[in-house]
Amino acid sequence: MPKDLLSLEHYQEEISNFHIYVYNTVGSTNEIAKDLALKGVPQNSIVIADSQTSGKGRFRRIWISPPGVNIYMSLLIKASSDTKVSLVPLATSVAVIDTILEVAPEVKKKAGLKWPNDIYINGKKLSGILVETIKRNIIVGIGINVNTTAQHFPEDLRDKATSLYMETGRSFSRAEIIAKILYNLKEIYKILSENPYHIIQLWSERSKTLNSMIKAYLPDRTLEGRAIGLDENGFLKVITSEGKIVTLSSADILHLRQ
Ligand code: BTN
Repeated sequence: MPKDLLSLEHYQEEISNFHIYVYNTVGSTNEIAKDLALKGVPQNSIVIADSQTSGKGRFRRIWISPPGVNIYMSLLIKASSDTKVSLVPLATSVAVIDTILEVAPEVKKKAGLKWPNDIYINGKKLSGILVETIKRNIIVGIGINVNTTAQHFPEDLRDKATSLYMETGRSFSRAEIIAKILYNLKEIYKILSENPYHIIQLWSERSKTLNSMIKAYLPDRTLEGRAIGLDENGFLKVITSEGKIVTLSSADILHLRQ
């Protein structure tokens, strides 16, 4: 196991609330977390892997997961009857972008959230989040391109994906980033349980989607319009050129122009 992942134990304050499982190679950390959930491990268990052989993205895409360079982690939380599950992805993306800006403040102007939970820098994707539920368990999978070089990405992704290393020219400790994410997640999930609608505001302040012209790929059609806000579920409200307001609960979107 690479040393930088094992050095997580140096961050006792940040990780003290979590039960951490570190692996070398797994299929998908989300799948391991689901198995653990069904075996009854406590909530706040977290699965971290150095590489994934079947990393999963949203919409059944593949998440490129080479060894030694990136973060692949899945957190298990248990939903209570009043957990606003639809806000979990947005809340998570706020904790992840805040962590990114703590370790790499120089990307601040260029970084932002793309609805619902992607982190983009300079129009390229840095991080994605895949939230899945199994029984009353919520599995929050987070992938971040940290020390990846362009060569790690297949050619067709090179103009679409980026990493912290590619944006800053510096290498980062994965353990430090993971520890900071866990700390920030603890804080943001506290806000989610005490004042869920505040998540909408925190997300909106970090968003690059709001006020942009977007194209949404829906199962049966595409839709273009201006993103005008989120509803209380975190769903995206879009106004079309005919002035019709459409609310999207889930879709792959593309930013067209500001
Ligand atoms: C997306 O499509 O944007 C979501 C990508 C989520 C990738 C992460 S990596 C850790 C976890 N395990 C997976 O198989 N997927 C998520």
